[in-house]
Amino acid sequence: MIKPFWEDDEVLDTLAQRRWVVIDDAFDERFIEAMEQAVPWQGAASDLFHRAAIGRQAEQQVIREIRSDFIHWLDRGDTEAVIQYFWQQVDAMMEAFRRAFFLPINYYEGHVAVYPPGAFYKKHLDQFEKTSYRQITLILYLNKDWQEQDGGALRVYEADGSHTEVLPLAGRAVLMQSAEVWHEVLPARRTRKSLTGWFSCLPMEERFLGG
Ligand code: OGA
Ligand code: MN
Repeated sequence: MIKPFWEDDEVLDTLAQRRWVVIDDAFDERFIEAMEQAVPWQGAASDLFHRAAIGRQAEQQVIREIRSDFIHWLDRGDTEAVIQYFWQQVDAMMEAFRRAFFLPINYYEGHVAVYPPGAFYKKHLDQFEKTSYRQITLILYLNKDWQEQDGGALRVYEADGSHTEVLPLAGRAVLMQSAEVWHEVLPARRTRKSLTGWFSCLPMEERFLGG
């Protein structure tokens, strides 16, 4: 269902050198359909999804001027087969990134995100100001038949200030160096779904707290 793109040297080299990389056809329709079934998307307005907040724990605030999507965190205890399968791929990826980049990555956190029409996420980095745990961002897009006029592009800023826009097409994955790559989500005109997560190097005490 998900191709082992983390074993592809070209992908890893581009991630290291350009700092981000797009992988098309990284996963198939079966994965998307299984995710459609397994996640309570309709609950976007209910308690299962939370209006996404910025920052860590006690400092979290919902700042609608910065982001306006809804998120639902994945749990290793989720019993849905596709979510279990996804965690297995996460573990394989973690191992591949540890080896490729000599990074002591020991943690992954991920959520599905729903951007209702009009939602956006302003320009940001994925690393928090006070901590530097997050190393690699992974985004999987779950939107079949997405058209340019549907908006919702991921705009990625290069080190030289230029930018590239990436449509959230079904089967497309993006990897980014979390601390280096500035990016934003332009307003979507259609409901936009994704699975976003971060591979981190957590210090031991944070892992015990459940980070
Ligand atoms: C994020 C993010 C980008 C996207 O959730 O931090 O930047 O394209 N998402 O969904
Ligand atoms: Mn981000």
